[in-house]
Amino acid sequence: MQIYKVGGAVRDRLLGKPVTDIDWVVVGATTEEMLAKGFRPVGADFPVFLHPKSGEEYALARTERKNGRGYGGFIFHASPDVTLEEDLIRRDLTINAMAEDDQQNLTDPYHGQRDLEARLLRHVSPAFAEDPLRVLRVARFAARYAELGFTVAPETLELMRQLTESGELEALTPERSWKEIARALMEDQPQVFIKVLRECGALKVLMPEVDALFGVPQPEAHHPEIDTGVHTLSVLEQAALHKQPLTVRWACLLHDLGKGLTPEEEWPRHIAHEHKGLKLIKAVNERFKAPKDCQELALLVGEYHTHGHRALELKPSTLLELLQSFDVYRRPQRFEEFIAACEMDARGRKGLEQRSYPQADYLRGAATAARSVAVQPLLEKGFKGPELGEAIKGERLKALKAYKAAAPT
Ligand code: CTP
Repeated sequence: MQIYKVGGAVRDRLLGKPVTDIDWVVVGATTEEMLAKGFRPVGADFPVFLHPKSGEEYALARTERKNGRGYGGFIFHASPDVTLEEDLIRRDLTINAMAEDDQQNLTDPYHGQRDLEARLLRHVSPAFAEDPLRVLRVARFAARYAELGFTVAPETLELMRQLTESGELEALTPERSWKEIARALMEDQPQVFIKVLRECGALKVLMPEVDALFGVPQPEAHHPEIDTGVHTLSVLEQAALHKQPLTVRWACLLHDLGKGLTPEEEWPRHIAHEHKGLKLIKAVNERFKAPKDCQELALLVGEYHTHGHRALELKPSTLLELLQSFDVYRRPQRFEEFIAACEMDARGRKGLEQRSYPQADYLRGAATAARSVAVQPLLEKGFKGPELGEAIKGERLKALKAYKAAAPT
């Protein structure tokens, strides 16, 4: 049997990027031979094994053919007579379809190295269309390698467009889509992921609520970029520049969905968009079964981001309601993430990227003031049950009034 390194490990070594995961392909072997060498089989779908010591994935060379809609409809053929070239041709991108032996000799039948140099994400063959997840993968690679100057080859974008139009994206499971979305949002330029999805029409299918923001104007005084879609991409860009976690990036992407619902005659104003957007945020959250912390933060940021911007003008009672809504006493981290998302929203505007955001420290100070209220003295005074709750709230309100009065205006 011959063993080759394939896929991302070869690509990233040639790009001079750190290699984390190594995938191997084994040519000329049978399942029985692999088992006899101590490899452990994984999954029922494909002939893939884990190395007994390194735990890395070794797949028998295989060909694949699709025989139905969705992800279930695959027939694969793995046998010792499948060649390396046959295995590589079923892969998504030319830059992912190179193999390397233990002497670092490259097998590159589909010109991956040429495309690496040309900075092109290009599909290997029409078999690309057999897995609709690849539309998301290409957009994710575009986000990851944008910094190096990579773009999607026009013919690949066209294929992605056709694949989208054929309705195949609807066959993706929420779990597979979310995995790609989450990875893409954590790339250095997540806005490129959304842009590429939009260019091939996939954004309209996957997240029509985000797609609808393009072409919707906002008041120029607050939003020199005007377009709500452009603003959303800039907010995401800021979130990545500031190394925000996934929860914040997801909330940034969804924070303004309500603006897509504003009747045109009300443009460029978006009255109550925060509240109107909640049902859309919920729908997107559920469509991809986003993790609970992402879902929660997106809804809270959607509802309260304007409060964040107006923090310095809020009445103490409104500030208190805000802090209560976030349960800032038990969930301080979530409030920090809210503040971060508001700050990214404020900076994700044309020409305002470097602005200061005094609201952030003010909100932190308010949370500290409210949290500093001690419960013990109230218990000692004999408060219990709902009365205790009211008494704590009353003390917190006092603390916030004092905080606001002392804050520099
Ligand atoms: N692959 C594919 N189509 C998919 C998934 C994977 O063709 N839908 C192939 C590609 O050749 C890819 C390899 O399988 O390079 C390994 O896939 P994976 O580990 O998911 O991706 P990597 O390319 O290693 O990229 P990453 O750095 O994102 O892990």
